[in-house]
Amino acid sequence: HSVAIIGAPFSKGQKRRGVEHGPRAVRDAGLFERLSSLGCQVYDLGDLNFTHLADDDTYKRIPFPRTTGLASKVLADAVSGAVGAGHTCVTLGGDHSLGVGSVQGHSRQCPDLCLIWVDAHSDINTPLTSPSGNLHGQSVSFLLKELQDKVPAIPGFSWVTPGLSSSDIVYIGLRDVDPGEHQILKTCGIKYFSMREIDRVGIQRVMEMTFAHLLERKQKPIHLSFDIDAFDPSLAPATGTPVMGGLTYREGIYISEEIHNTGLLSAMDLVEVNPTLGATREAVEVTASLAVDVIAASLGQTREGAHISMDKLP
Ligand code: ARG
Ligand code: MN
Ligand code: MN
Ligand code: MN
Repeated sequence: HSVAIIGAPFSKGQKRRGVEHGPRAVRDAGLFERLSSLGCQVYDLGDLNFTHLADDDTYKRIPFPRTTGLASKVLADAVSGAVGAGHTCVTLGGDHSLGVGSVQGHSRQCPDLCLIWVDAHSDINTPLTSPSGNLHGQSVSFLLKELQDKVPAIPGFSWVTPGLSSSDIVYIGLRDVDPGEHQILKTCGIKYFSMREIDRVGIQRVMEMTFAHLLERKQKPIHLSFDIDAFDPSLAPATGTPVMGGLTYREGIYISEEIHNTGLLSAMDLVEVNPTLGATREAVEVTASLAVDVIAASLGQTREGAHISMDKLP
């Protein structure tokens, strides 16, 4: 089956520069070769060009709203085109504000998609609850239908048409949720599995419950938005907002394998790899190669191995 790779070198949804080099780092870690060796037909569509708008003053504590909204709009068109052409679409970030564009573009082709957001953070602050102003901590608030009376119009985002219901999203890996976000999760009844739930019942049960919640009534295309900071910082040090106590390598790969096994993965994001934040070159390389492992497992790489031919061994 065929996979499109879209590089989205964007960093203005948060304050630490360098995450715009994420796509290069993940490609350099061998993404194309890994996916090709799985038998995927891989189309690397290259990096998108994002415009930095000159007149883009901070709006109510939010930096670069127009530039960030426009970047997501450009990404939405690219993702929509790739999914429409029949590819499974892989977006390489870039910061997580891009989730707005990626999910929007995907839902243009698949209006009934469901969303699995793997992250230390819930990224569901509204522009009014955000303690930082950073748009990468607000992406989901723009996407949820039920939240729209709480989300003020901000410049750059008027093109977004929120289409997701609270029941169409599941979070996995949470451990740094702001008070306003927690209130939203609770009042909207959004399903989430924080690190505590993973500790309590294990990742296998968490994935069973994730699919039961999202797919019980109807098989739907899956959008996986994977923030590399879901992993423990010992495994993914090169990222802007690391939080202690994250996913183990095996938990992260298991999540990805189980999503592949549904046969429903239709588009995914791998975001927040920031190669300028690793303490050493090795720290950057382990983070980028972890990102490749997640993408490969999501697209069918198995730990038990695989073979094609049923002929006798040579
Ligand atoms: N909750 C914090 C905020 O709103 C941190 C968000 C971090 N988001 C991310 N995509 N890494 O600023
Ligand atoms: Mn995060
Ligand atoms: Mn995130
Ligand atoms: Mn496959």
